[in-house]
Amino acid sequence: MTFPQTRPRRLRTTVAIRRLVTEHRLATSDLILPVFIREALTEPAPIGSMPGVVQHTADSLKRAAAQAAEQELGGIMLFGIPAHRDHAGSAALDPEGVLNAAIRDVRAEVGDDLVVMSDLCLDEFTDHGHCGVLDANGYVDNDKTLEIYGQMAIAQADAGAHIVAPSGMMDGGTGAIRRALESAGHTNTAVMAYAAKYASAFYGPFREAVDSRLTGDRRTYQMDAGNRREALTEVKLDVEEGADIVIVKPAMSYLDILADVAQTSPVPVAAYQISGEYAMIEAAAANGWIDRRGAVLESLLGTKRAGADMVLTYWASEVATWLKAA
Ligand code: PBG
Repeated sequence: MTFPQTRPRRLRTTVAIRRLVTEHRLATSDLILPVFIREALTEPAPIGSMPGVVQHTADSLKRAAAQAAEQELGGIMLFGIPAHRDHAGSAALDPEGVLNAAIRDVRAEVGDDLVVMSDLCLDEFTDHGHCGVLDANGYVDNDKTLEIYGQMAIAQADAGAHIVAPSGMMDGGTGAIRRALESAGHTNTAVMAYAAKYASAFYGPFREAVDSRLTGDRRTYQMDAGNRREALTEVKLDVEEGADIVIVKPAMSYLDILADVAQTSPVPVAAYQISGEYAMIEAAAANGWIDRRGAVLESLLGTKRAGADMVLTYWASEVATWLKAA
């Protein structure tokens, strides 16, 4: 070997040296915990395909939120499962509906100590399970859906959401929501837009988690897995429409998208480590095929290395206990 020699292994010789030179670290404040609350539930209900995750009662949700605040997580993201669904998803607009009531309860519990985020989408509320309302041909009607999203945003902000998170991938959704919030005086309610959200087979367990009614797929509104460049167009539009934070989703199979968006986005970037990513690691670990903790941490670190400023993950609270002990 010629002199001087570059030997990368010098910086790997001890735990302390590796710790010194590590480029990316996980922090508890990066982690956002998605939670499910189901109307009229008396006991938390386990979700079979997501071992360790439950559908919450109002009470168990409050405890999970209090713990998240105590742990100083980055935030909590609320998904509601109503007892009754209809064609237009009207329970989403009811101030006493399951999601709006949960937002109010959680805010009463945590105040401003935890960032309270709410999913802004119709799929849990419609009897057909689509993220918007349907036209006569069964096609998701973009602009009619926007009107409802605007009203939903106001209902969620009224209930106390710090951040609303439109996940329906309608064109112009972020702008419609921003305008509605402004018109109602909610100028400080932020919008965290699912900007690049792909139609993914890895959402499977989430469908169980929210008792989804969907038959078919969401390919007329969510992005095609084959497209990379288009993600930047989607992000650009959301930013122009007023998105305060943008989300790339899923995480694991879309790290190239995440890296592209992180390099170009003028606003913070979140990655959503989705239900199927959770389920795969849990299932493999339960079989003894992989080291659970190592795989969880590596999967999260991968999203940070790709450029995520924050990660939505069902392991948020558990990982926070690991980081604290480390
Ligand atoms: C739809 C929505 C979905 C998820 C979050 N919001 C499902 C879908 O788009 O089909 C998936 C989250 C996950 O899989 O963990 N509003």
